[in-house]
Amino acid sequence: MKISSNIYHTKPKIKKLQTRHILIVLLSATTTILIGIFIYDNTFRLYKNNVHNNNIIPNTSVIESEVTEEKYENIKLEILNINDIPKHAKTYDKNYTFTIKTTNNVVLEKNQKFIDIQKVAKNENIFVVILKNIGNGISNRTIELIDNKQNRIVIDITLEKIAYNLPFGISEIPEWPNTKYTNIYNNLLIVVDKEYRLPHNYEPNDLVEIGKEPYLLYTNIPNIKLRKEAADALKAMLMQYKKDTGKNLVVASGYRSYEEQYKVYVNWIKSLGMKEADKISARPGYSEHQLGTVVDFINEESDYNLDIKFSKGKAFSWLLKYAVEYGFVMSYPENKENITGYSFEPWHWRYIGIENAKKFLKSGKTLNKFLRDMFNIN
Ligand code: DAL
Ligand code: ZN
Repeated sequence: MKISSNIYHTKPKIKKLQTRHILIVLLSATTTILIGIFIYDNTFRLYKNNVHNNNIIPNTSVIESEVTEEKYENIKLEILNINDIPKHAKTYDKNYTFTIKTTNNVVLEKNQKFIDIQKVAKNENIFVVILKNIGNGISNRTIELIDNKQNRIVIDITLEKIAYNLPFGISEIPEWPNTKYTNIYNNLLIVVDKEYRLPHNYEPNDLVEIGKEPYLLYTNIPNIKLRKEAADALKAMLMQYKKDTGKNLVVASGYRSYEEQYKVYVNWIKSLGMKEADKISARPGYSEHQLGTVVDFINEESDYNLDIKFSKGKAFSWLLKYAVEYGFVMSYPENKENITGYSFEPWHWRYIGIENAKKFLKSGKTLNKFLRDMFNIN
């Protein structure tokens, strides 16, 4: 106001003020354009999903004083696996866990109750977000993550806790002690045992149905799925098995989601009690079946059951000799319960790729030990 009233008084003053005025206008325009670009850029990222990258540039003056594109890139904080994060997550547990992969290292913003994050890769910014104390029914959670430049990511999730009928005296399926989240980016070599677990939302994105074209494998229940690479190897192996023996092996299980594993485990605790169930069934999140690279076999020798008799039959001898050539190995051998955590399961075979399978056999280790050693984790 003051300036404009002065403008019309004297000529020289007008000139001076006009120049200053132009400068101010130019500066404001530049600032507006910069802010505009920033808001436009973020709006697209933020609202593409339920994830808001409140990627506030921490120090606007830095931007105004010509930050190069490269520097600007360095301070962007983005989620790289945005499509893996559910908007509406269902859980039988009091917690819900999911993985995020970000451009920068992040920590939890302060004062957030019942949320944890755990870094699960050494050289990458991959984290498991752990939402705790989820009440029955539907609730919403906001998770705020922040990097060391105060860039912020805000994730909104709707949670739905579904009541599940558990045996008397058990209010929830407990975690194993010292549990850690495994690095899910090791592709075929992910460590999953009673210590290293998978988050709720882990599901491979290349699952195929092995009872259908082009696989047409024998299964005892419909819709058994495996990761494509494992399914291809399995088909090749079972075709050779048929050639060699004239028989078929039947696949009794393949991929199981976290929720399916939950139901399987609960059925076991209902029939055997928790102590016995833990010897033969993984708790949800701790099953190799969630990887989509594992099959259980049955045949006439095992009376079409997951039975220890399978280990006495010809099919098992054949597998011990030839499965490695197709990349399949046995996860739970006899007399190794103290290392694997489970009783002998001659029917449970995991695909890890041919070269890895050969190295594994040479090592003489159990699979969980071999994989842990491979990634230097204990
Ligand atoms: N039976 C194995 C341990 C599983 O449930 O994954
Ligand atoms: Zn199995």
